[in-house]
Amino acid sequence: MSGSKTVQVKEKKLEEISGIGPATAEKLREAGYTDLMTIAIESPRNLAEVCEIGESTAAKIINSAKEAVDIGGFETGDEILERRRSIGRLTTGSKALDELIGGGLETQSITEVYGEFGSGKTQLCHQAAVNATMPEDRGGLNGEVVIIDTENTFRPERIAQMSSAVGLDPVETLKRIHVARAYNSAHQMLLVEKAAELAKEKPVRMLVVDSLTAHFRAEYVGRGTLAERQQALNTHMHALLRFGDLHNAVILCTNQVAAKPDAFFGDPTRPIGGHIVGHTATYRVYLRKSKAGKRIARLVDSPSLPEAECVITVNEDGIRD
Ligand code: GTP
Ligand code: MG
Repeated sequence: MSGSKTVQVKEKKLEEISGIGPATAEKLREAGYTDLMTIAIESPRNLAEVCEIGESTAAKIINSAKEAVDIGGFETGDEILERRRSIGRLTTGSKALDELIGGGLETQSITEVYGEFGSGKTQLCHQAAVNATMPEDRGGLNGEVVIIDTENTFRPERIAQMSSAVGLDPVETLKRIHVARAYNSAHQMLLVEKAAELAKEKPVRMLVVDSLTAHFRAEYVGRGTLAERQQALNTHMHALLRFGDLHNAVILCTNQVAAKPDAFFGDPTRPIGGHIVGHTATYRVYLRKSKAGKRIARLVDSPSLPEAECVITVNEDGIRD
């Protein structure tokens, strides 16, 4: 199977667009127009007001941005078929869980794992990261991994332990896992762009966001901010999906359940982010604690697979049946 696709996303700088000088570029950035896409879809009137320029100049800038930006376009059916053919599967470490989700974590899709604290979400991310570096004949993707860590729960020691358990060299494995701490939701979103840069040099085949929603939840508090939060989450998830498509990568995200009734989602077993996250994720797995090291994984509202459950184990070696 081929590695990352050869599609190049060339993002021009604002200053490279005709009509945008340094001063205008600065005003644009200050107003939040940090990339060409946001300029390309803006109206001349709004842009003129923000940059204190004439509407006709603004219109010219918008047109140039439209030409320069990689909006993406139409693909023919056979191209989509070709892309679908390259879809890969990554083992979770548990055969039962792999089967539950149709043969392992799917590339070019988002898998969301949600559950309460200690349910094993972060452990699963560590295990999948190790597995992604394994060769394809062992259920891996023979790739590198990017982990966006929002809660400072990445543990290299755990990666080393899990690597040894499957006979991989711990140091070599750690070298293929790239971790960035995200300090807030905006930073988290920017890190997806950084990951895309890294993926130009390295065969990144998995992107982990652990946790997808924690920052968003902490920052957008109160009913009035719900729409904003959902919009930001939506943008973030589409950036992730795009990364998955371009690099034929697994996107693995974790999500908490509201421990106490959430202001927005009263049901305490509902994952944060509601339907925005739910509709963009292709696979949603609900993890809950059981006896000893056992966890119950449930596949929730999948379009093509039956809703079912399986039991997995979390132990020193990692995730197992
Ligand atoms: P939050 O991020 O707090 O929402 O939880 P989480 O779902 O990410 O939980 P996490 O994956 O961190 O699971 C932690 C649990 O995994 C621990 O309570 C242990 O039960 C188990 N665990 C983690 N490391 C080990 C280990 O080395 N050995 C064993 N036996 N179990 C472990
Ligand atoms: Mg965790």
